Amino acid sequence: MGFPKVAVVGLGFMGRTHIQSLRRLGVEVHGVAGISEDEAMAAAQDLAIQKWYRSFDEAVADDEIEVVHICTPNALHFQQAKQALEAGKHVFCEKPLAMTPAESGELVDLAKKKGLVTAVNYNLRFYPICQEARARIAAGDIGSPYLIHGAYLQDWLFLKTDWNWRLEPEQGGDLRVVADIGTHWMDMVMYLTGLKITEVMADFSTVHPTRMKPAGAVETYSSKINQNTSDNEVAINTEDVAVILFRFDNGALGNVSLAQVCAGRKNFFWFEISGSNSAMHWEQENPNELWIGYRDQPNQVLSKDPSLFHPEVRALTGFPGGHPEGYPDTFVQVFRQFYGAIASGKMPETGKFATFQDGHHEMVLCEAIQRSVVEKRWVKVDEIPG
Ligand SMILES: NC(=O)c1ccc[n+]([C@@H]2O[C@H](COP(=O)([O-])OP(=O)(O)OC[C@H]3O[C@@H](n4cnc5c(N)ncnc54)[C@H](O)[C@@H]3O)[C@@H](O)[C@H]2O)c1
Repeated sequence: MGFPKVAVVGLGFMGRTHIQSLRRLGVEVHGVAGISEDEAMAAAQDLAIQKWYRSFDEAVADDEIEVVHICTPNALHFQQAKQALEAGKHVFCEKPLAMTPAESGELVDLAKKKGLVTAVNYNLRFYPICQEARARIAAGDIGSPYLIHGAYLQDWLFLKTDWNWRLEPEQGGDLRVVADIGTHWMDMVMYLTGLKITEVMADFSTVHPTRMKPAGAVETYSSKINQNTSDNEVAINTEDVAVILFRFDNGALGNVSLAQVCAGRKNFFWFEISGSNSAMHWEQENPNELWIGYRDQPNQVLSKDPSLFHPEVRALTGFPGGHPEGYPDTFVQVFRQFYGAIASGKMPETGKFATFQDGHHEMVLCEAIQRSVVEKRWVKVDEIPG
């Protein structure tokens, strides 16, 4: 059986990454939609895609399309996912799933009602060595986790002149670093350990209370190359830095530092999980190695090698040992799972790709974190409706 036909909406950093990775799997990207007909046409020509749509509505009305990939700014996810589900399409949506838990909850219900396959792109789960870490944690290798800590730091919004749509709450949401990169980190540690975050305590800072907004759109990560000489100074109301404390449902404590203004840190995601037997540490910028720490024997570094992995993880690894796998490969693996679910006609059991339910849980966590900052206290996640 062949793959269903796909439309990709949003043609920036993510849209193009989705298209490349879908092609590696053999999935046909039948048509594309962007912010304008011109953007869609240019991308279709550039990427040799058959069809471009004048609008998202036109893409969703195309009867040949069975799956929609949503790669637009955050504020559009809810409406576009809802419309695609109502039109009977399976939906693969970029993170965060929506702007509020009310919106994401509505999408969870609608997806269930329609019986369609849905995913949110927490793709970092699919680094092969993270899958292996998960299998080892489930097998009891590190014992009972009691400290789960880490960071996700970037520098692409370091300067006051750096700009992107994420800086505007009406496009990116009321939370910036937490929703944009923090949700990746929270998804990862809960996925790896099987634990749930039950309480949060957070504080934020905005390093640049004003920024220089250029006239046109600035593509993600491109500020360093395109000099911004704008004299339009605008107020910034979202966080450049977030520090969050966590309590997990087994009693473990955790903390993460999140920022997009840390000089020299490009995409510095790391976690360390300390347990009663040993510890594990991983860094996204060196994704093929997992550090394993011991008290009474020499520490180890496990290099990615499917022949040393748990059997179920081998199937999620694209290349043999000694052949590094990176960020684009995670998309191929998550799409493989997603299209496998479509072929089987049902959502997978938990523990594979992030579902709309997982995406909704991240929105609930975001709301709890925001409440904690406003009310300056620990907030229990179950205080948040949803
Ligand atoms: N999973 C990941 O690792 C990851 C990484 C980066 C971004 N993202 C997510 O992907 C999404 C897109 O981010 P990006 O970095 O690609 O942004 P981007 O600015 O590079 O691209 C956004 C695209 O959406 C288009 N667009 C804007 N309004 C539109 C509309 N009304 N209809 C159709 N298209 C429209 C823009 O023209 C642009 O092509 C965000 O939600 C972001 O959080 C995820």
